[in-house]
Amino acid sequence: MPTIREVAALAGVSPTTVSHVVNNTRFVSAEVRQRVLSAMDELGYRPNALARSLRRGETQTLGLILPDSANPFFAEIGRSIEDAAFELGYNVILCNTEGDLHKENLYVDVLMKKQVDGVIFVVAGDRSDSLVSMIKHGVSVVVVDRDVAGVSLDTVMTDNYQGGYLATQHLLSLGHTCIGCISGPSHLTPSAQRVTGYRQALLDAGLTVAESLILRGDFRPESGRSAAKVLLNHTPRPTAIFACNDMMAIGVLRAARELSLNVPNDVAVVGYDDIELASYTAPPLTTIRQPKAEIGRAAVQLLLERLNQRELAPRRELYPATLVIRGTCGGKA
Ligand code: RIB
Repeated sequence: MPTIREVAALAGVSPTTVSHVVNNTRFVSAEVRQRVLSAMDELGYRPNALARSLRRGETQTLGLILPDSANPFFAEIGRSIEDAAFELGYNVILCNTEGDLHKENLYVDVLMKKQVDGVIFVVAGDRSDSLVSMIKHGVSVVVVDRDVAGVSLDTVMTDNYQGGYLATQHLLSLGHTCIGCISGPSHLTPSAQRVTGYRQALLDAGLTVAESLILRGDFRPESGRSAAKVLLNHTPRPTAIFACNDMMAIGVLRAARELSLNVPNDVAVVGYDDIELASYTAPPLTTIRQPKAEIGRAAVQLLLERLNQRELAPRRELYPATLVIRGTCGGKA
């Protein structure tokens, strides 16, 4: 690996000048800068990022902790975060906890040892000891998608109660009165808030809430498929199902097909997230849109603002949920 002295010799400048060009820490004329960059290119010199970060106390690296990077919602959020961070000169270390608190703790330890400048965190549950530990060690954190009990942090999420209410209200507006609901994991606040919106929409329409029509899934397709089979064998059979995320709604579509039920004529379906796949199902999925790209960008923006102003009071960005009508409720794709 060529050294800074070899670059300086080739460019005809001092090693200090090379360091100023690499770290942009002092004005260097365009002619000298070009000589140094040409010498670096000719020798294949790469600045020592670790040495630079030790000098500057920054690594230009962010940690991103997600509970399920295979879920398209998180994959799309992760892509938006990475794009926004890259544009601002930051690298991102992605950690997939699979919703496991032990893995979450391990990854937090890794990120702290790597001295990332800040962390964007989707916690595996509704509380997180590892998150509290990071905060105690002075790591800047932005929480995405769900609140964390007992801590007040920069947070970016969608209005989940409103989303559950909108989904159910849409089905009611189409004349459905027997509407099933498949929730996500009960310990996750986004899912609980959506179910609360479902309940309230039924009550506001003068209907009672049948607990037998509210089943629990795990946000994965198979849980939507198996829960739908239970619901569609219920008496009376629901004529509509609200699934609290698109991946479970895709499972519902498979269950309807396996039971030879037509969507939307025999059973209407509404999902939640509006992942890219939602417009490719047959029929295309009516769903509640979460603004994933905006959420990702906002999380990066909040984090970088905090890195520059640590005394800022915690900010909360709550995005509205919006209904996207496609074919699974009878609307046009
Ligand atoms: O699809 C994954 C779900 O988990 C999304 O609805 C998101 O809000 C997260 O809570």
